[in-house]
Amino acid sequence: MRMGNGFWIKAAVLAACMMPWGLAAGAQGFPSKQITMLIPFAAGGPTDVVGRLVGEHMSRSLGQPVIIENAVGAAGTLAGQRLMGSTPDGHVILIGHTGTHAAAVSLNPNLKYRPVEDFAPVGLVNTNPIFLTVRKTHPSSTLSEFVSWLKANEKTASNAHAGIGSVSHTTCLLFNTVVAAKPNGVPYRGTGPAMNDLVAGQVDYLCDQAVNVAPQHRGGTIKTLAVASTSRAAALPDVPTSAEGGVPGFKVEVWNAMFAPKDTPAPVVAKLNQALKAALADATVKAKLNELGAEIPAAELQEPAGLQAFVAAEIERWAPIIKASGVKIE
Ligand code: MLT
Repeated sequence: MRMGNGFWIKAAVLAACMMPWGLAAGAQGFPSKQITMLIPFAAGGPTDVVGRLVGEHMSRSLGQPVIIENAVGAAGTLAGQRLMGSTPDGHVILIGHTGTHAAAVSLNPNLKYRPVEDFAPVGLVNTNPIFLTVRKTHPSSTLSEFVSWLKANEKTASNAHAGIGSVSHTTCLLFNTVVAAKPNGVPYRGTGPAMNDLVAGQVDYLCDQAVNVAPQHRGGTIKTLAVASTSRAAALPDVPTSAEGGVPGFKVEVWNAMFAPKDTPAPVVAKLNQALKAALADATVKAKLNELGAEIPAAELQEPAGLQAFVAAEIERWAPIIKASGVKIE
């Protein structure tokens, strides 16, 4: 993901603001007990898989177990509320994503947190290409065939997603808006269970992250019609891009990021950040993430200040997309 000059200036200013606060407190004795990592979606889905992979390595670096808790609800935003109410000592952290920490701001007028102001950013974990997938028995085998089918069948077409504002919802919302289709949304507690139903042929299509798509695609249990990126994904090179499939406007990439409660002492955030970066630099973790189609972010984005500026930019980037779609949570 490339960021412009303005982005890096903001990141540098934020880093400078964070420094004196960082010098004020120490991280001695941290962690003194197990760390709970809140995952906003169901077990087995992409956020859960990434969280477990990174959390396992972090527990070795930090010398305390990192326990996963799937705090599911309100399209992933309940976990953010949980984090806000947690003691800011680094023992509760959260893996958020494009939906929970960017798109939700424009989509949900009742969102109970401000992603930039209300959390202490730890670091960007990964970026993840998005794929449009259909059930194996679907009559379409290419993206252009699917668009024709969708336009002819939108009243009965079922589009699985992980709740209004989730990544699977917002990215398919972009696709549906671009092709001017209004299918029936079918919400799940995460794309883990949504993918199970796609594999079982219970729903027609799902926009999902590489991490969840790659194993099913390789196993031949679904049809993957397009990747919503400028170029084909290294992990699934046989899948055409959306532009190759005739829908160039369907272009989107998503991310996962780690947050701690606001007011967590900077040295504690720094210790979490070191453990996160160590996980992302580990050859086995890296290979596993890459095999699943996820990519390790640029070094600057793995830093708290880089993430903070990045989230602010992402909130701005998603606002016009959501506005154009006309969708809002009431
Ligand atoms: C998940 O982990 O289930 C997904 O990230 C949910 C989503 O589509 O946002």
